[in-house]
Amino acid sequence: MSAAEDAQAGTGAAPGRSCPLHYRYRPEHFTIEAPAHLQGLDVLYVVGGLYGNALALERVLALFERETGRKRLVFNGDFHWFDIDPDHFARVQRQVLMHEALRGNVETELAAPDADGDAGCGCAYPDWVGEGVVDRSNRILKRLRQAATLEQRAALAALPMWQRADVGPLRLGLVHGDATSLAGWGFAQEHLRDASHRETVAQWLDRAGVDAFACTHTCLPVFQALRAEGAKEPRWVLNNGATGMPNFAGDRAGLLTRVAVTPYPGPERRFGIVTGSGTVHVDAIGVEFDPAAWLEHFRRDWPAGSDAHTSYAERITRGPTYERRQAVRHTEGEPLP
Ligand SMILES: [Fe+2]
Repeated sequence: MSAAEDAQAGTGAAPGRSCPLHYRYRPEHFTIEAPAHLQGLDVLYVVGGLYGNALALERVLALFERETGRKRLVFNGDFHWFDIDPDHFARVQRQVLMHEALRGNVETELAAPDADGDAGCGCAYPDWVGEGVVDRSNRILKRLRQAATLEQRAALAALPMWQRADVGPLRLGLVHGDATSLAGWGFAQEHLRDASHRETVAQWLDRAGVDAFACTHTCLPVFQALRAEGAKEPRWVLNNGATGMPNFAGDRAGLLTRVAVTPYPGPERRFGIVTGSGTVHVDAIGVEFDPAAWLEHFRRDWPAGSDAHTSYAERITRGPTYERRQAVRHTEGEPLP
């Protein structure tokens, strides 16, 4: 890993800031063929950052049920987080593991044998995330570990960190963080504003031999175009933000990334792009769970004053200060009007 990659991965000593060596992989790993069950897909759902939201999970499964053709659903990590009730935790895990799943930093740290390991929550938070958020996340992870059985933790440990899939002609790398680390922030909308960083990401895509990476982890959505030397079309970073939390000011829906050979027919579509010479439709689909019911559920486990309530209640109630028009960036990182 280069010094630049180290910086993006958030290497450091403090729990919640560090990126452990076992989180890392190389862009070249993605040059392999997709496994047979993830080749030739008509529809792929990439569901990242469910965060233990059982109502969002129900909605995702209902949307997926409506899809036709050769279809797969991939949970690309952090499907646990707020689900500290053991029954709730078990239900989320059982339903997720009926589909394809990758482990995120939450599942990786849940699976770790040492409860006091130096990764904390494993988020590898960058500098713009405040110390209070990091400390609370480390404590949430410790609390969540009490909900998981040894058997459940072993099942999480067995999950892969990344995957390959093909939808129509589109070669995809599926990750939780970025092209070099499970908890990397290289696909964060904040970093992707920087032209020199976009050049680094374009080089990751060169080395990986994929047309796009579908990712999550950084909590805000962005579909970012990247240069493709000599090609007619750009390549893409496809970050869904969060499925289990709001992603835009005034819009309390979660988001999933749908990659398909047919356009999405429903009103849930928030934004999207077309690629693959017009044959592949990539859309951020709103996961519209009942926000009042979810808030009530959340507050039962995380009342006012608790760590998760302090960190997330505002976002769950109002959404982040981020707009839909900021999420799709065609060539040079500029938002569409
Ligand atoms: Fe994450």
